[in-house]
Amino acid sequence: MSEKKILIFYGTRYGATEGVAGRMAEIIRENGNQVDVFNLKDLPDDKIPDFSNYDGIIIGSSIKIGQWTRDVKKFVGNHSEKLNKFKGKLGFYVCSGYAADPENYEKVKVDYTQTACEKLGVKKLDMYDAFGGLMDFTETSRMGWLEKRLLKTVSQMTTGEKAEDSSYHDLRDWNQIEKFTLEFNKRL
Ligand SMILES: Cc1cc2nc3c(=O)[nH]c(=O)nc-3n(C[C@H](O)[C@H](O)[C@H](O)COP(=O)(O)O)c2cc1C
Repeated sequence: MSEKKILIFYGTRYGATEGVAGRMAEIIRENGNQVDVFNLKDLPDDKIPDFSNYDGIIIGSSIKIGQWTRDVKKFVGNHSEKLNKFKGKLGFYVCSGYAADPENYEKVKVDYTQTACEKLGVKKLDMYDAFGGLMDFTETSRMGWLEKRLLKTVSQMTTGEKAEDSSYHDLRDWNQIEKFTLEFNKRL
């Protein structure tokens, strides 16, 4: 089997989506394929690689108040036609607080990925999933005071418990992430 090439584009606010992109890249490499990873915040439009050189594209976004990052929105909106014409496989994931809650998982999995993509003109995703996020209330967190307060509300709804100040919870399920990546790799 010849080596496949995969592109990962992501947008993150607090680091969860970035960590997932990094782990996906490791898994893809361990399975003998090539991968290029880009943080969309650092990728000017004229430096976006030619999709036709790749067999798969995975796009990942952070979720805040139901929304992707501005860079992911801009990227998907600007390149929807190219993504629709892409001959390889197209995958999409989000990191989201609600995804870690079994009651909300199925709904946010579709709403934050497929439905949001359709609204921007992307017709078909081959694979999509929603992973949990980071609940980082420590002093070194990338979140500001207001963000921590809002997230505590999300956290309470997700876990049913009041989040402690300075607590840190990584709600990403690495087995789920590995399964998604291996399946994507297999479908190429
Ligand atoms: C201010 C704020 C609003 C959030 N809103 C949502 C939300 O609407 N839905 C959700 O599922 N998660 C929400 N979250 C949780 C984030 O999705 C989670 O922190 C995730 O780690 C974000 O990805 P990132 O770390 O890559 O930025 C929110 C978090 C913050 C701080």
